[in-house]
Amino acid sequence: MMKISYGKHTKHKLMSRDERLLGYLPDTQYFTEETLREMLEKHSQVILKPCFGYQGIGVAQLSALEDEQIELHKENKKIILNGKTETIAYLNENHFRRKKPRYIVQQKIPLATINNNPFDLRVMVQRKRNSSEWVVTGKLAKIASNNYVITNVAKALLGAEEAINRASLPSEKMNNILAEIDQVSLLVAEQLAKSYPKNRVYGIDLGIDQEGKVWIIEANLSPSTFMFKLLKDGSYETIRSFQRG
Ligand SMILES: Nc1ncnc2c1ncn2[C@@H]1O[C@H](COP(=O)(O)OP(=O)(O)O)[C@@H](O)[C@H]1O
Ligand SMILES: [Mg+2]
Repeated sequence: MMKISYGKHTKHKLMSRDERLLGYLPDTQYFTEETLREMLEKHSQVILKPCFGYQGIGVAQLSALEDEQIELHKENKKIILNGKTETIAYLNENHFRRKKPRYIVQQKIPLATINNNPFDLRVMVQRKRNSSEWVVTGKLAKIASNNYVITNVAKALLGAEEAINRASLPSEKMNNILAEIDQVSLLVAEQLAKSYPKNRVYGIDLGIDQEGKVWIIEANLSPSTFMFKLLKDGSYETIRSFQRG
């Protein structure tokens, strides 16, 4: 059997095969000069990230400003570049690693905020050995540090429900959001399981935008569990028991 890549672009493609997930997936392309141009015209703001990145390493936000200028926001620093050509040159010189790995360019989701800092959710979905039943075993919110786009450098972790209550989201959305998060996460696990049949855990990053819409940012195949240990809401014990079982 052919081994399927674990890269972000591949997983995006696999998820998009389930039409129920299509509306949750941000527009995503392999990075080329051409797709960067197209995506910036279409979305004004995009996220650039390595297919095999982790912990937010190599993630940058690009925003189209007035007069062809482009703002690059990486870690807690922003710089302004003049036009697309200068941007590409800058990325080649300063951003991409020497052995240029593959990157994706993705529509930026305007994440909901808590005290002006964006947050996203990490949802653990697991199944026990020899079982095909997927279960949501934990969910939490990662709040970005001040002036960061990425939430991997988290300023704080909160329970998902508390985060959703504290974010200023449209009130009519509030009731359904937690159920929708579970539903989407289970669909992601079921869909990816078709391609990674041995895998028993997914750590799914979900964004909620400022209008309360849920988005899939990425699905991890070997997520770490330490954040749930820090959360102390009992989910860590559930996660451990699924790992053992
Ligand atoms: N399309 C996006 N819109 C908004 N924020 C994003 C987007 N993609 C990534 N991010 C932010 O960057 C973080 C890291 O990106 P992610 O795709 O999870 O890669 P990694 O494998 O490095 O964790 C996310 O948790 C989120 O905070
Ligand atoms: Mg992530």
